[in-house]
Amino acid sequence: MADKQTSSIHGEWSSRWAFILAATGSAVGLGNIWKFPYITGENGGGAFVLVYLVCIAVIGIPIMMAEVMLGRRGRSTPINTMKRLAMEAGQSKLWSFLGWSGMIAGFLILSYYSVIAGWSLAYIFKSASGEFTGSSAETISTLFGDFLAQPFEISLWHSVFMLITMVVVARGVRHGLEKAVRFLMPALFVLLLIMVGYAMNSGAFSDGLRFLFSPDFSKITGPGILVAMGHAFFTLSLGMGAIMIYGSYLPQNTSIAQTTFWIAGADTVVALLAGMAIFPIVFANGLEPGSGPGLIFVTLPIAFGQMPGGLFFGTLFFILLLFAAWSSAISLIEPAVTWLVENRNMQRFKACVYAGLATWLLGMGTVLSFNQWAEIKIFGKTFFDNLDFLTSNIMLPLGGLCIAIFAGWLLPRLMSADELAMKSDSQYELWRFLVRYITPIGVAIVFLKAVGFI
Ligand code: TRP
Repeated sequence: MADKQTSSIHGEWSSRWAFILAATGSAVGLGNIWKFPYITGENGGGAFVLVYLVCIAVIGIPIMMAEVMLGRRGRSTPINTMKRLAMEAGQSKLWSFLGWSGMIAGFLILSYYSVIAGWSLAYIFKSASGEFTGSSAETISTLFGDFLAQPFEISLWHSVFMLITMVVVARGVRHGLEKAVRFLMPALFVLLLIMVGYAMNSGAFSDGLRFLFSPDFSKITGPGILVAMGHAFFTLSLGMGAIMIYGSYLPQNTSIAQTTFWIAGADTVVALLAGMAIFPIVFANGLEPGSGPGLIFVTLPIAFGQMPGGLFFGTLFFILLLFAAWSSAISLIEPAVTWLVENRNMQRFKACVYAGLATWLLGMGTVLSFNQWAEIKIFGKTFFDNLDFLTSNIMLPLGGLCIAIFAGWLLPRLMSADELAMKSDSQYELWRFLVRYITPIGVAIVFLKAVGFI
């Protein structure tokens, strides 16, 4: 293993803790707080949550370990990492397609992610100006509907979000990414606990818990299972090389298994807390759990409008949500930027301008799909819904499947064992069994079930 590179040319995390924070920053984002509750609502609650949790445990965690492992082994962008490792393992260089598809998926996801993050940005100001204080549930729903109806304001917030994302990315690993996430995750966590505390007194806490945690399997469908699995990839930032690239900055002596458990655990807890904060408010106010992407932008303002100190907590909440989205957005575009730097010999700054502009432009499609283009549907879905479906439910699971096959079947055992350096052989064997058999078969079954094949 003479050419094993031990650090990345783009820099390295200052410690294991920095990696955990950054990867948690990538994982915890709109996926946990905005998307998880609304797709849970659309797919009937408890059974969906259970499928999602199983997917995290048997598919998400093993693939995350595989991704970090490949990243640290390859020490480069996903495209070059895959090329290098494939050659080392005596496989075709074509495995670098995994890096390509990941780069494209990240770009596609960020284009709509930025629009939703823009909503949070707007809601910081709406909250601070007291628009929610004392308002009825109806007024707040109307407020959101009106906000979505005109593309100009949303595109402005989308532009601001893209700009601040590219500024952090332009500053590079150590100075930009690492510093941005250090304090914000713990603060978000505390604020969610406060929200759950409020929800406990909303009068419908037990209805909310029942909806989330008591599975009714008659409510879950094949496509619903696909959404749950797709979300397991989305929420852990898997299947597109984001975690691979973060892994490439990981110091050599850090335990991959342990760090992965931390990240996946924190991510899951945040999603469940968000659900526990939101559904009691949904039921207490007679709202519709399946009302779609606007769910948190209606329920939470209702809570903030009614609770003591709501102006402060509401503003703070949307600020923290913005930061959570920000630290995730960074990891969505990082693969494209590093690739431009490495392969096109661009300055990091210039690479950020190009990548940022392209993403911004595509994002306009999502902006319009909530108003002007709302009626234009392909396969019965809007532009935004199609983009989300294609990326979360198809590209990420396929990317994850390929990662599992590569790490489990093609990479020599010696290499993965050496890089993972597990505490015991049985732990390593369990991981290997999961990525070789359970993960690929699981993904395949879910795909077949979603298209009605089984
Ligand atoms: N995991 C993030 C969230 O839940 C989103 C995200 C960041 C992501 N990086 C990613 C999703 C890479 C898929 C792939 O909000």
